[in-house]
Amino acid sequence: MSKKGFIFDLDGVIVDTAKYHFLAWKELANSIDIDFNEEQNEQLKGVSRVRSLEKILAWGNKTVSEDEFMSLMSKKNNDYLEYINKMGEGEILPDVPKILNYLKEKNQSIALGSASKNARKILEKVNLISSFQAIVDGNDVSKAKPDPEVFIIGARLLNQEPENCVVFEDSVAGIQAANRADMVSIGIGDKNVLHEANYVFKDFTEISTDFIKELIEK
Ligand code: BG6
Ligand code: MG
Repeated sequence: MSKKGFIFDLDGVIVDTAKYHFLAWKELANSIDIDFNEEQNEQLKGVSRVRSLEKILAWGNKTVSEDEFMSLMSKKNNDYLEYINKMGEGEILPDVPKILNYLKEKNQSIALGSASKNARKILEKVNLISSFQAIVDGNDVSKAKPDPEVFIIGARLLNQEPENCVVFEDSVAGIQAANRADMVSIGIGDKNVLHEANYVFKDFTEISTDFIKELIEK
């Protein structure tokens, strides 16, 4: 059986951390008199921490000094980490372990490709860090998704050609990054939102091992 590279995004694919990002961003935005709702939070999926704060400030028509910007970023992350520190295996999204175990059984290479600078910590908390042969996160890239850099580095670390890689992503920017990297893109979420993906599934419970087998043999 051939060997492919399977690259997973983290937030929204392996764990649902969007709810924690929401709580931390909301508290921060409200502390500087900016409203923040779930709909805006949706628009921050896959978006880096810096860019997220820039967007929130723009929504609130606010400008801050560089020092204040840095302090707001660290305040948000400290809050976010309080939620992350309480995470455990129970927060792994349904059937993610099934797919990871199947890939392992079939001797496929597996990487993480995330925008988060907290990715390693989260994987440790949910006890999945040893499932990944390579981890590329927000500390390793200079260009954010939709730039393909994160996935290109992931493929290189797995010793795989990009066209032999498959990406699981829940954000539009991430799907675009996978497509630009010339990889097979699999959207996890809403078909209408992720219409640029090669395939879309609501979540991993909809993905059969037969489908994964086809991807491996393609
Ligand atoms: C992405 C999330 O995975 O990581 C974004 O979808 C988040 O919402 C980004 O802003 C950066 O995460 P962190 O943990 O470095 O603040
Ligand atoms: Mg994501």
